[in-house]
Amino acid sequence: MTATTANAPGKDQPAEEPRKPDDPFDRDVLPTPPGATAALLRSLLAPMKARVAVTTLLLLLQQAAVQTGPLLVAYAIDSAVPAFRRDDLGPLIAVGVGYLLCALASGVLQYAFILLSARVSQDVLLDLRGRIFRHAQALSVDFHERYTSGRLISRSTTDVESLRELLEEGLQELVTVILSFVYISAMLLWLDLGLGAVAVASFVPLYLLVRLYRRRAARVYTLRSTAIAAVIVKFVETMNGIRPVRAFRREAVNDADFRVLNSRHERNNGDALLEMARYVVGSRLVANTAVAGIVLWGAYRVAGGTLALGVLAAAVLYLRRLYDPIDRLGMFLNSYQSAAASLEKIAGLLAQTPSVPEPSQPRQLPAPESEHPGREVVFDGVRFGYRTGGEVLPRFDLTLPAGQTVAVVGSTGAGKSTLAKLLARFYDPSEGRVLLDGVDLRELAVPELRRGVVMVTQEAFVFSGTVAENIAIGRPDATHEEIEQAAKAIGAHDFITSLPDGYDTDVRKRGGRISAGQRQLVAFARALLADPAVLILDEATSSLDIPGERAVQRAMSTVLHGRTAVVIAHRLSTVEIADRVLVMEHGRIVEDGTPAELIAGTGRFADLHQAWRDSLA
Ligand SMILES: Nc1ncnc2c1ncn2[C@@H]1O[C@H](COP(=O)(O)OP(=O)(O)O)[C@@H](O)[C@H]1O
Ligand SMILES: [Mg+2]
Repeated sequence: MTATTANAPGKDQPAEEPRKPDDPFDRDVLPTPPGATAALLRSLLAPMKARVAVTTLLLLLQQAAVQTGPLLVAYAIDSAVPAFRRDDLGPLIAVGVGYLLCALASGVLQYAFILLSARVSQDVLLDLRGRIFRHAQALSVDFHERYTSGRLISRSTTDVESLRELLEEGLQELVTVILSFVYISAMLLWLDLGLGAVAVASFVPLYLLVRLYRRRAARVYTLRSTAIAAVIVKFVETMNGIRPVRAFRREAVNDADFRVLNSRHERNNGDALLEMARYVVGSRLVANTAVAGIVLWGAYRVAGGTLALGVLAAAVLYLRRLYDPIDRLGMFLNSYQSAAASLEKIAGLLAQTPSVPEPSQPRQLPAPESEHPGREVVFDGVRFGYRTGGEVLPRFDLTLPAGQTVAVVGSTGAGKSTLAKLLARFYDPSEGRVLLDGVDLRELAVPELRRGVVMVTQEAFVFSGTVAENIAIGRPDATHEEIEQAAKAIGAHDFITSLPDGYDTDVRKRGGRISAGQRQLVAFARALLADPAVLILDEATSSLDIPGERAVQRAMSTVLHGRTAVVIAHRLSTVEIADRVLVMEHGRIVEDGTPAELIAGTGRFADLHQAWRDSLA
């Protein structure tokens, strides 16, 4: 019954919807739901609430210790020095000791603060990197087809790095600046209401300046981080496709593209620095005007006897401390801006949900009826189109009885691979269901699905690690004998033993490089070892030479025996091992029958087969 609701039209994106003119994947930032960025930050900091509280307390105490200094100077000038003139050494000694204690306390507190805050930020970043990796890995194939690996790399390097800068340097800076503003204003007002009021009044133009800068910097920094991401994306994509780049002499074009992106980044960087320079000049102007005003007015009052000299000295010391960190506040705002932009991008990525979600109430496959591993496959009214294109399978019904080997032929673009990918649940149909022994793939527990359906494609991938490990991905608990058996069954044993370290050869190290055809053999052995109920071979022998393909084919009858198999063939020789042949055109099955029936008939397959026979003669 869940299946019928899942079947309801309109629940998923209708397949025929044209490509939206503003595809969010064309931009660097995916739409971030409102509040997602703040929620991400909260969830990152939540587990370390206690430690954040302690670090804040340390900073509070440290600031208190630091900001007592000028007060002691005022006391020394106005009370301790006159007392010393009266031969009373006590107050001066007290001031000296007090100053020393404050310095000592602030040093110790600062040390503890740095240690603790570094640990907090390290933990946050560790958590965040892990989340990005896990989430990206869990997202569906169609996400990765549109969001490039370059962008993912940029998310987990540049963006995490800018967050690190904020956490390790910027945040401390901000809290220190705010704290010292509060402390110092309070001290100044307490020392002398008039002078304090002038200092506090200077906050107004400073605040306006900061606000202006923030607005302008936000724009520049977003541009800048988009620009650096574009540089990384271009870099990664070019190097990933280095073979076609070489083959088609794309170097010059790529160089030109890269130069444009690189200089755009440089320009944005220059703009950012310019904004920064304007801010620094502006804030110094305000600060120095305020200091000059206070010193002049203070000196006038000291001369008139309405202000103690020590108070003026303390006020000037405080003012320097007050305005000094303002330059750094600009720096902090910079790192805040880039970190906010980065965090928004990361939040946008983390907010993506898999378009092929795991079932909330997973179902198990029924117990097998015979000792054969094969299971029945049904495409029930399936319609499907890729998000970025038109409909590929208009309406597809197909039943493959358990244990049948089906060859699928048809011209390029007919939808054969799409059929295979739907069966492996890389995508979900927009309408209809794909059933494995009566269970909708959408309801099937993920491990069951991965064990049940295995696909070998032409782009056989090997992971870093040894050949044996690569084969064992199909079944991690396999023994060495089982691995070797699988390799032997598929005809890969001979080439593997001729590698420098045999099965223990590292495929990414020197000497371990294996050819495309050999990679396919490894992928075959991997699939065989996984022992799936349904095996899909999508042009999986395309990189093998004719003898290699023959060897695989001989092995195939044993490998496929009892299994349900979908063999997408690019050479008709493969068809010989099939119980049934499907000819596909434009997402539809146009012929369906045993190889003998179709060859005897007058359809497309008969023509294809005749042409193939002729080519062999
Ligand atoms: N990832 C994809 N995104 C968008 N369109 C795709 C994608 N893969 C295939 N297509 C389109 O779907 C159609 C069928 O492709 P495919 O199933 O790969 O054909 P075949 O394997 O029979 O050559 C083609 O028109 C192709 O352009
Ligand atoms: Mg294909």
